[in-house]
Amino acid sequence: MRLHLLLLLATAMAMAATAPADAYNITKILSAHPEFSTFNHYLSLTHLASDVNRRLTVTVLALDNSAMSSLLDRHLSLPTLRNVLALHCLVDYYGAKKLHQLTSGTALTSSLFQATGAAPGTTGFVNITDRRGGHVTFSAEDTAADDADDGTTTTASASSSFVKSVKEIPYNLSIVQISAALSSPEAEAPAAAPAPVNLTAAMSRHGCGLFAGLLLAASPDVLDAYESNLDTGLTVFCPVDAAVRAFGPKFGRLKPDERATLLLYHAEAAYNSMQQLKTGSGLSTTLATAAAAAKKKKSKDFTFTVGEDGGGVKLETEVATAKILKTVVDQEPVAVYSINKVLQPRELFKPPEAGAPAGSAAAAAAAAAADSPDGAPDDDKAADDNAADGRLGGGCVWAVAAAAAAVAVML
Ligand SMILES: *[C@@H]1O[C@H](CO)[C@@H](O)[C@H](O)[C@H]1NC(C)=O
Ligand SMILES: *[C@@H]1O[C@H](CO)[C@@H](O)[C@H](O)[C@H]1NC(C)=O
Ligand SMILES: *[C@@H]1O[C@H](CO)[C@@H](O)[C@H](O)[C@H]1NC(C)=O
Ligand SMILES: *[C@@H]1O[C@H](CO)[C@@H](O)[C@H](O)[C@H]1NC(C)=O
Repeated sequence: MRLHLLLLLATAMAMAATAPADAYNITKILSAHPEFSTFNHYLSLTHLASDVNRRLTVTVLALDNSAMSSLLDRHLSLPTLRNVLALHCLVDYYGAKKLHQLTSGTALTSSLFQATGAAPGTTGFVNITDRRGGHVTFSAEDTAADDADDGTTTTASASSSFVKSVKEIPYNLSIVQISAALSSPEAEAPAAAPAPVNLTAAMSRHGCGLFAGLLLAASPDVLDAYESNLDTGLTVFCPVDAAVRAFGPKFGRLKPDERATLLLYHAEAAYNSMQQLKTGSGLSTTLATAAAAAKKKKSKDFTFTVGEDGGGVKLETEVATAKILKTVVDQEPVAVYSINKVLQPRELFKPPEAGAPAGSAAAAAAAAAADSPDGAPDDDKAADDNAADGRLGGGCVWAVAAAAAAVAVML
């Protein structure tokens, strides 16, 4: 009971702390200030920019290009650099005025490094002190003892100073320039890259076990193609089990390489948040687009159209329209959404009477007929002379998928 309450509370707090739609775009704001271009570049590269954008209240301690170049000279790995930069994102609002009017002249404030849970103890907190003569300093809280014996610029005692206010949107976003990078041994400790998303496991947990099974069974290796985008950006639309089941007969009639293509068609080589899908309406290229291009099949573009739909998101091909049901994974640079229908590219699914002149009433009727029978596999059975062969192969894949789903359920 108590655990439930805590969970509820945690959820409520998480919701309060993040805006439903991003209120501002730190990347865009900083792009108007070329002296912060390196800092801006690394905010994006480490995906901290979107973490900042999701906050209702945040203060970014920006470093100019020369301060960034000193930081980069330390050759930190990207996950470590992310921790260091996260230390520069305070989860409270500090405009220039507030910085110079701190109650009792000092404040301890939490950073995104602290918020990620990667910071042990009080590390991840930043000490702000308003010194004599309006000189404001920032330093990372540090559990390690001061050690100034190594002859180099020491980190523990070094603090960074307020330079100027860059942008203030009271009381949501403040960007202030500080003179040098904050440092703490904890933030600079070698950081492991976050555990990679296990796509098939996540899908299986969210009602897409059959689709996960198809990915595992596909040849050539589709899962491999998906996973090769895990670091650089991937959005997957996985049809729920009921949709895959209803689509079974059609899938069964595809050749193995067409099945692989269909599965590739359900992923994009870029990260898209739900918000981006809603607002960035337009044509989406897919992993199948890339595969077709690699084979120089220029006529086959394997795209679909994404658009907002009554507060949700719809995915339209010329053959069918699917809707997003829920978010399965949103862990930039990877997003997975479940959808209510299998996406059908026009490159693979045509009206059976392909010979009819395009645009004729017969073609339209045929298209309509081909469009509807997802739930009526018996209509399809008679339509295809390859049915027996296709169905057999499909059946095998189906068995594998079912087994995979069963395993997933047991886990
Ligand atoms: C600013 O923050 C407040 C809460 O602190 C929030 O209610 C408001 O929506 C935010 N404004 C914007 C533009 O995000
Ligand atoms: C933020 O702005 C940058 C640069 O203007 C743009 O490339 C990016 O897509 C924007 N991000 C969002 C989430 O709108
Ligand atoms: C911040 O550090 C100074 C020493 O530099 C210390 O006097 C002050 O108490 C600290 N502030 C807080 C809130 O811990
Ligand atoms: C993903 O999870 C499944 C179990 O659901 C497991 O069999 C598989 O090895 C995992 N893959 C990776 C790459 O960890």
